[in-house]
Amino acid sequence: MERTHRLKDKVAIVTGAASGIGRAVAARFAAEGATVVLTDKNTADGDEAAAALGKPHRFAALDVRSETEWDAVVADTVERFGRLDVLVNGAGVGIPKSIEDTTLEEWRFVHAVNSEGVFLGCRAAVRAMKEQKSGSIINVSSVAGLIGSPDLAAYCSSKGAVRLLTKSVALHCAKRGYGIRCNSVHPSFVDTPMVRALAGAARDPDKAFEQLAKSAPLGRLGTVEEVAYAILYLASDESTFTTGTEMVIDGGMTAT
Ligand SMILES: NC(=O)c1ccc[n+]([C@@H]2O[C@H](COP(=O)([O-])OP(=O)(O)OC[C@H]3O[C@@H](n4cnc5c(N)ncnc54)[C@H](O)[C@@H]3O)[C@@H](O)[C@H]2O)c1
Repeated sequence: MERTHRLKDKVAIVTGAASGIGRAVAARFAAEGATVVLTDKNTADGDEAAAALGKPHRFAALDVRSETEWDAVVADTVERFGRLDVLVNGAGVGIPKSIEDTTLEEWRFVHAVNSEGVFLGCRAAVRAMKEQKSGSIINVSSVAGLIGSPDLAAYCSSKGAVRLLTKSVALHCAKRGYGIRCNSVHPSFVDTPMVRALAGAARDPDKAFEQLAKSAPLGRLGTVEEVAYAILYLASDESTFTTGTEMVIDGGMTAT
C-alpha cells in the first residue's frame, strides 16, 4: 500500500473497524501516518485487523451502544497516545424491511447502533478534542440518509438522523471555537459483507447483487477504498474549512 503522510502524527479512533468500510479506513489511515485505535463489537475480526496493521495500532472492544464503553475507549486512547485527532463513526447495521414489516424491536436496534451510537461517539470525542482545540469527526451516513428507500425504513430514518446530528455538532463546535469539525459521508452501495448480506436475503441473490450494482449511473458498486479516500480528506488538514457538510460517494445515484 502506498505510504504518503496525510495524517502524520494524528491519533484516530475508527468504529466498525473489523469489517468493510471501517476496516479499509483504518488501513488507509495507518498508511497515511496516523496511529489508529480500531474498535468493533466483533473482537475476533477486530483483533485480526489491528494485528495486520502492526504496532502502534491497536484493537479495543467497543459496542457503540454503550456509554461506559465509549468513555473508557476515549479515555484510554488519550492516556496512551496523548490526544485524539480523528473519530470515524463507521459501525452500522441494516434491516431490509419496509414500514409495514419492521417490528418495534428492529426499529430500536437499528437506531441504537446507527443513531445513538453516533451520538455517543460525537459527544465523547468533542469532550476530549475540545481540550486540545482541534479535531475532525466523520460520521458514516448513507445515500439512504438523503433519499428514501421503500425497503429500508429504520435504516433510512437512522441515517437521516446522522446527517442532521452532524450539522448540529459542527455548528456547536464552531460557535464555541473548539476547532473541531464534523462532517458526514454518504456512500451508495459498496461491496462489503453488509451489501452481500442484503443481496443474499433476496429470493435471487445473484440477480439482486447485479441490480444493486446497476443502481448507480456509473454501473457498479463502490469500493471500500473509494469511501476511505473521501474520509481521509475530511480527516486530514486538507479540509480545515470544511465542516457540517455531507460528502456524497454514490457513482451518481443522487444526481438523477
Ligand atoms: N456497504 C454499503 O453499501 C454502505 C453504503 C452506505 C453506508 N454504509 C455504512 O457504512 C458503515 C460500514 O458498513 P459496511 O458496509 O462496511 O458494513 P460491515 O457489516 O462490513 O461492517 C460493519 C461493522 O460494524 C460493526 N458493528 C455492528 N454493530 C456494532 C455495534 N453495536 N458496536 C460496534 N460495532 C458494530 C460490525 O461488527 C462490523 O464489523 C455502516 O455505517 C453502513 O451503514 C454502507
